[in-house]
Amino acid sequence: MAERCNQPIALHLDHGESVEQVKNALKWGYTSVMFDGSRLPYDQNVAITKQCAELAKVAGASIEGEIGHVAMGDETALTEPDEAEAFAAATGVDALAISIGTAHGYYKSEPKLDIERCRAIAERLPNVPLVLHGGSGTPLDEVRKAIENGIVKINVATEFQDTFLKSVNKNLVALDGKFMPIDKFMDPVVDDCAAHIARLIRFFAGR
Ligand code: 13P
Repeated sequence: MAERCNQPIALHLDHGESVEQVKNALKWGYTSVMFDGSRLPYDQNVAITKQCAELAKVAGASIEGEIGHVAMGDETALTEPDEAEAFAAATGVDALAISIGTAHGYYKSEPKLDIERCRAIAERLPNVPLVLHGGSGTPLDEVRKAIENGIVKINVATEFQDTFLKSVNKNLVALDGKFMPIDKFMDPVVDDCAAHIARLIRFFAGR
């Protein structure tokens, strides 16, 4: 599908959990992989991320790592700028996910991002693109400040899934029990999802 698309597309493995998974993704043609060792002890995170980076480089794909930890139903560990600098140098990652106060999933209360921390990390790593995970539900003015202070990639999954499910539900209710071929049924769902992503892309690009 990526090959057929008339736009430049990265096929990305998010939160790869093992060298094996990363290897498989590269074998299947992914152009970008992440190894997420953010819950591992520092030395182990460095060792496995470095191994994945070497594999990705051979395959001509880009590699993302994570230092600090963006909560996934567990506890956040904010990224220390010194550690981020050392981690990037030791692993050779092309992009680095950092933790500055976001979390995966929807929030129970509004997050406040540590923009000073983001800026400090960006100053130490001027050549490493920084990634913000946990984009869903993050107030857009906070996202804007993060972009102005070094974030170049923003991950959004939960609110996209939410749009998908709500659109499926809306269109199913409208059918009122009647049958429609699934491809035709999906057309307006795809349109809703595309509109959601288009809004985000425009906002992130400052348009
Ligand atoms: P959300 O759950 O906030 O959409 O975050 C997604 C994400 O960071 C995937 O890597």
